[in-house]
Amino acid sequence: MSDPDYKLLKSQMIALLRNETDALAAASNFVGLLYQTLDNINWLGIYVLRGDELVLGPFQGLPACVRIPLGNGVCGTAAANLETLRVEDVHAFPGHIACDAASRSELVVPLIIDDKLVGVLDIDSPSVGRFKTADQTGIETICAAYCELQAGKKNFI
Ligand code: SME
Repeated sequence: MSDPDYKLLKSQMIALLRNETDALAAASNFVGLLYQTLDNINWLGIYVLRGDELVLGPFQGLPACVRIPLGNGVCGTAAANLETLRVEDVHAFPGHIACDAASRSELVVPLIIDDKLVGVLDIDSPSVGRFKTADQTGIETICAAYCELQAGKKNFI
């Protein structure tokens, strides 16, 4: 398993999405690009903030739970705290919501545009400890660049 070149991935993401004005199309291709590029993952997608819950958006992987209240599970906790959560072993995370029984570790990055939470990016792996500090930093940087591209659009999705 090789670490991706996150700097290159960020440039590819910007090249792919910079001229796309439709938020849903951009989010769908964002998810597709990351899912195809990252090794050893079984689910990757966006949950969108709608009121006080996260609602399933574009994703790759098995069908997943549709609504997650803020504060629940890994996604809802990351969203409520406005902080990335990197979970070594989801079985050890109290309240983890199992959508795909194969998932063993998880990285959730809040998506923030103009200081407002708009959703989260959720990535699951079938391996315990799949996500390292470098993955967290790389994905956070790519999410920040993605949010910058989406700033100014009428809706996030
Ligand atoms: N495991 C997440 C739920 C979403 S699925 O992994 C796609 C959680 O605990 O919030």
